[in-house]
Amino acid sequence: MKALVTGGTGTLGRLVVPRLQEAGCDVRILSRQGRDGRGDIEFLTGDLASGVGVQAAVQGAEIIVHCAGGKKGDGDKARRLVQAASRAGTRHLVYISVVGADRIPISSGIDRAMFGYFESKLAAERGVADSGLPWTTLRVTQLYESMLMLVHQMARLPVVPVPAGWRFQPIDGCEVADRLVELALGAPAGLVPDLGGPRVYEMAELVRSYLQTRGMHRLVLPIWLPGNAARVFRAGANLAPDQAVGRLSWEDFLAAGTSSPMASTSAGT
Ligand SMILES: NC(=O)c1ccc[n+]([C@@H]2O[C@H](COP(=O)([O-])OP(=O)(O)OC[C@H]3O[C@@H](n4cnc5c(N)ncnc54)[C@H](OP(=O)(O)O)[C@@H]3O)[C@@H](O)[C@H]2O)c1
Repeated sequence: MKALVTGGTGTLGRLVVPRLQEAGCDVRILSRQGRDGRGDIEFLTGDLASGVGVQAAVQGAEIIVHCAGGKKGDGDKARRLVQAASRAGTRHLVYISVVGADRIPISSGIDRAMFGYFESKLAAERGVADSGLPWTTLRVTQLYESMLMLVHQMARLPVVPVPAGWRFQPIDGCEVADRLVELALGAPAGLVPDLGGPRVYEMAELVRSYLQTRGMHRLVLPIWLPGNAARVFRAGANLAPDQAVGRLSWEDFLAAGTSSPMASTSAGT
């Protein structure tokens, strides 16, 4: 089975690639940077923002696992991918989205500045669902690996500002990758149940446990963020407490020697 992983060089994609290979797939990766193929992985250069190289990348791929994404513009990226995949006759397009994509209202410039990411994920979801291609979309909460990078950056400051009332339900990237690959190899299923980590944490708790693991001392300062989207976020629109199916805890993730963000992202491709 030929599979294309967009974003196969990213935090999640690099966990998806080896799992697809273990399942017997012939894997290629779409990346903006030209790279030499490694082992039996083929790298194809392309940019979903401009469309350059995308048609060649999808050609012949029976499955596409679409993990490429950024802070903004994911709707347009998905649209370009879908157009190319439709021409290529892809048999299954699998998309990774975020819990809350459909629940965070964007009604002002402030909302968009802080939460435009969710808006673009919803636009991408719609592009996939309306593509006419057989599709599956999985919404997940934030990955431990990404949360770690975030708190690592925040902890560089002598005083760490933390949005008051924000909560997260982070999940192990490996568990997300397992589920994505299971879905990719199965029949197209549309929008499947969300996937969330085992526990909901106050953001300040996540920061403090990181500081503790690293033996760092910082003042954690709650800040109040304005806007309608921030209010809905405080109400838990990014959480999936009924789908708390992740097994590895944040504390175990930190204790497993991944308390440096580089350690958690250096594996794989
Ligand atoms: N991480 C999370 O907590 C989380 C939670 C829910 C959903 N998601 C979703 O999961 C997906 C993967 O997230 P991630 O954390 O793995 O992201 P990431 O580490 O930032 O990686 C992003 C990937 O997207 C590729 N990419 C970005 N712009 C591209 C473009 N214009 N054309 C082609 N490739 C492009 C990058 O490839 P190159 O740099 O090699 O071109 C890279 O491999 C995203 O859609 C994200 O929204 C992530």
